[in-house]
Amino acid sequence: MENPEIKLLLVAGARPNFMKIAPIVRALRSQSNPQISQITQIEYKIVHTGQHYDYEMSQAFFDDLELPRPDFFLDAGSASHAVQTAKVMVAFESVCLNERPDIVIVVGDVNSTLACSIVAKKLLIEVAHVEAGLRSFDLTMPEEINRMVTDSISDYFFVTEKSAMENLLKEGKPKERIHFVGQVMVDNLHYQVRRLERGDPLRFSTYGLKKELGKYIFLTLHRPSNVDDRETFIGIAEALNEISNEIPILFPVHPRTKKMIEEFDIELAQSCKLKAPSKGVNYKINLDKRVFLLPPLGFRESLFLWKDAAMVMTDSGGLQEETTALGVPCLTLRENTERPITVEMGSNTLAGNRQEDILNCFREIIKNGKPEAAVPPKWDGKAAERIVDVLRAKSREHSA
Ligand code: UD1
Repeated sequence: MENPEIKLLLVAGARPNFMKIAPIVRALRSQSNPQISQITQIEYKIVHTGQHYDYEMSQAFFDDLELPRPDFFLDAGSASHAVQTAKVMVAFESVCLNERPDIVIVVGDVNSTLACSIVAKKLLIEVAHVEAGLRSFDLTMPEEINRMVTDSISDYFFVTEKSAMENLLKEGKPKERIHFVGQVMVDNLHYQVRRLERGDPLRFSTYGLKKELGKYIFLTLHRPSNVDDRETFIGIAEALNEISNEIPILFPVHPRTKKMIEEFDIELAQSCKLKAPSKGVNYKINLDKRVFLLPPLGFRESLFLWKDAAMVMTDSGGLQEETTALGVPCLTLRENTERPITVEMGSNTLAGNRQEDILNCFREIIKNGKPEAAVPPKWDGKAAERIVDVLRAKSREHSA
């Protein structure tokens, strides 16, 4: 692009980042506000840090989300927090030095978010944080540290809900830098639901599922607080077994969870016979045969299943929001949430991770049926357009 007025680097590293950058890329491509876009040219490049790298955790998402190939792949891979963060920082510094962007856009709260915002800020490059201000106030969560540090050095705060705005103001962030734009993940959700209407993407027979699924629960589980401690994990597994007597559970297994199942060497379940499409699944956990273990699914396959589920059970941050956007009951296997709007709206229930608490919440949700849930303000599919408009307006101010 000749003489761009601003140059952006858009960072994504882990699975939940990909669905957040996809709508921003679409908005940048479509030049949402003609009045501004005539004047301001934006050049953008995509950086994939390689924090997630398995086909199912990365490329499958780029394909599903129609994301272009990243301009830079940093190949950071898995390691301890310090090593992973450092690897991203070292590689991203070279990219920034060569590219000299005006603004680095980071999304969410993963290690790549933290690493790239620190690198950019130290090179005097502005940082824009999408999904700023969310707080669980739980410093045992690595993501909470990532969120706090990223926000402490960001220049643009794009927020999804009012609690985030309030948190940032309490922390002394200037009001004029906080932009309540809505949730980009919901932009993506609307877009993908429309695409799904053109056909289902699930390879039913490959996963050993019947085409008519009936009533089921969709489960995701990967947080260290749930899967890295053997006793906690077993308690959750026992709750799942009991629940699955009433409603079968579809459970795509995250690589971290798979690793912990193997490490704990939990009792073999002869009845879990599902096979991953390529690699054999040999999970050693005593889960009932009505808990269907699946390999990690692509975005569309996963959406196809959870949007019609009787209930979603999860410890993911993103799914709490996505279920709220589509009004699907969600039981969250955590003590707290950095996304309180999902509970306020009525779709999300925090169950914690103890067996009895999970069972009690499950029974309560089943008894009450589908909640009368509302959709949070500005979760209307236009968050990415608002972000791009803010960036354009800012760049006009700079060049004026
Ligand atoms: C990361 C994010 C978390 C997010 C989650 C979504 C941080 C601190 N955590 O957690 O916020 O909710 O992604 O998935 O950034 N692995 C693979 N293949 C991969 C990636 C990981 O096998 O492509 C395995 C490795 O054994 C690795 C483990 O999963 O050690 C954990 O991966 P990591 O990126 O460290 O954290 P997640 O648990 O995925």
